[in-house]
Amino acid sequence: MTSTTETNTQLSAFAQDTLKGLSSQPKYLLSKYFYDAAGDRLFQNIMELPEYYLTRCEDEILRQYAGDLAQYLGEAPFDLIELGAGDGLKTRILLEQFQKQALQFRYLPVDISANILVHLQETLSALWPDLPVVPLEGDYFSALHQMPAAETRRRKLVLFLGSTIGNMTLADSRAFLQRLRAELSPGDLLLVGFDLKKDPSIILAAYNDAAGVTRAFNHNHLLRINRELGANFDPQTFLHWPLYQPTTGHTKSYLLSTIAQTVYIKDLDVNIDFAAWEAIDMELSKKFDFAEIESLAADAQLKVLAYFQGQKQYFTDALFIVE
Ligand code: AVJ
Repeated sequence: MTSTTETNTQLSAFAQDTLKGLSSQPKYLLSKYFYDAAGDRLFQNIMELPEYYLTRCEDEILRQYAGDLAQYLGEAPFDLIELGAGDGLKTRILLEQFQKQALQFRYLPVDISANILVHLQETLSALWPDLPVVPLEGDYFSALHQMPAAETRRRKLVLFLGSTIGNMTLADSRAFLQRLRAELSPGDLLLVGFDLKKDPSIILAAYNDAAGVTRAFNHNHLLRINRELGANFDPQTFLHWPLYQPTTGHTKSYLLSTIAQTVYIKDLDVNIDFAAWEAIDMELSKKFDFAEIESLAADAQLKVLAYFQGQKQYFTDALFIVE
């Protein structure tokens, strides 16, 4: 592999991370880059799949417990901050309930996808023209720092829903929650969606749907590299291969090159060699148990106020308070 390293400082974060991941052994791509405009659409399709139980479970939970959650918030104005807001569909349930109870709040959706934030703001202003919405684009912590200092004195309810936390290893989510905790003040609340360990066949089906949408979602990452960095990936030569590891709860997705091949990335002027059946590590979607959630909370000095769960014990939204 050859690369023109002297130009690397001008490369976008996407270009740098792609180069680093595909030059590593084993190869990997970062799952945060799934979400360009096409990826956002594919993920919306995933959420509607019969096999993808996560969204329906969390919807049920939010519908059932939005009122209880409002009880914890009280009268004072607060900031509702959502990390990885996406299309904000599930959050609408909460926004609706909070407005019904005449709670005073602003909604600050944070997302890496500028595309989805524009879409979200349009939808919300059509629905509720008077709801103050402040979209924050970027990584979670840079977005938290974008918040004007004076207003951060309001109580915060931070949402981290949909098992987005499952994209991190347990060690990384531990560090993440500790860092997040450092941005918060006593009395602030945090609602985190965790997908739970369960029958592996149910989990695997959610990441290997019959309609092939999850495969297309993974292939889209390669197509994004083609579009944005001028590469010549042929997704048809990459097999989508999800796996569940029951001790760690790691649900992994890989793309396997079914043939020996070389992919050229024009904008980076690099060739990437693939041996036959060589893998690209595409994503981690970790499944949790309660012992792990308890230990995450303890290490971030968060107190568990409630576990909100639906009919099936597939998923939990854990409500934490900063003491
Ligand atoms: C958005 C990270 C929660 O891991 O379940 C869905 C992304 N990847 N199908 C997940 C995803 C493949 C999703 N999260």
